[in-house]
Amino acid sequence: MVPIRPSEITPEHIYLSRRKFMLGLGAAALLAACGRLPDTPEATVMPEGAATSEALSTPRPTPTQKPDIKTAFDAVTGYVNYYEFSLDKEAAAILANESLQVSPWTVTVGGLVNKPRVFDIEEILKFEQEERVYRMRCVEGWSMVIPWLGFPLSRLLKEVEPLSNAKYVRFQTLADPEQMPGLGDMTFPWPYIEGLRLDEAMHDLTLIATGIYGWSLRPSNGAPLRLVVPWKYGFKSLKSIVRIDLVEEQPTTFWMAAGAGEYGFWANVNPEVPHRRWSQANERRIGETRRIPTLLFNGYADEVADLYPDLTNKDWFF
Ligand code: MTE
Repeated sequence: MVPIRPSEITPEHIYLSRRKFMLGLGAAALLAACGRLPDTPEATVMPEGAATSEALSTPRPTPTQKPDIKTAFDAVTGYVNYYEFSLDKEAAAILANESLQVSPWTVTVGGLVNKPRVFDIEEILKFEQEERVYRMRCVEGWSMVIPWLGFPLSRLLKEVEPLSNAKYVRFQTLADPEQMPGLGDMTFPWPYIEGLRLDEAMHDLTLIATGIYGWSLRPSNGAPLRLVVPWKYGFKSLKSIVRIDLVEEQPTTFWMAAGAGEYGFWANVNPEVPHRRWSQANERRIGETRRIPTLLFNGYADEVADLYPDLTNKDWFF
């Protein structure tokens, strides 16, 4: 199979930015009233394999290619990794959607910044939101194509004015044992922590997602706001963020601490660099039967490869 060219999907947000969503006054009033956008997704559910208007806007595939088709809403929201709830993907989705309270919610942004702030989620939802359709590649060997709603993380970081000695960004997920039964599993070093180098965090592809499929983000996918870094393995994209700190030293992440040397800080997707216990050469697209080749930087190499000098250095992919 001819690999999917990144240009088939990454320009889609440029196309989609013409349809930028403003969570303007009407939506803001709705959010104030019920805390979230409507939850009923039927209007946007696409049968698996059906062509979407966005898919049709991309170049027609040749007979040997297959376009990226959005993963069905039910799979995106019902088959998740959210270890704070359960190691079982379907149970985690049910538990999160049943019990995670996403309003009220605040995010503390501080560390090495001029203007540390505590943002109320309502303030964040007033930032201009846009739709981005991204591939997500889990290190476990499966992938999805997900239409997120959100805004570039750089938008938030600019508000707090990082200091010149800030080199990395450290993110933290809520850890509330009252709501998250998985936290009882003490084999893991809670809370879930992730990190990016500052230039990765400021990259235009790096998104804070607040919605999915045109609707508010489901708790199972990390409501009310999560990170999305599409060129890295999915575990970098942490959910339900409560704290963001600008720091000088590279943070130790949840998976670095938990994974006995199996997961590194960079975690950039590369089909040629296997995980210690399995190959990363191909992936199972959820909702499709055959495996497809995995792409360097998950297909976003044109946009991000220059963030990483000397790509022969395998550490970037670990
Ligand atoms: N964030 C938190 N807080 N807890 C998690 O267990 N799992 C990660 C990531 N973010 C995880 C998390 C992993 S391994 C993946 S692949 C993606 O979320 C999956 O995102 P999804 O469940 O929305 O598809």
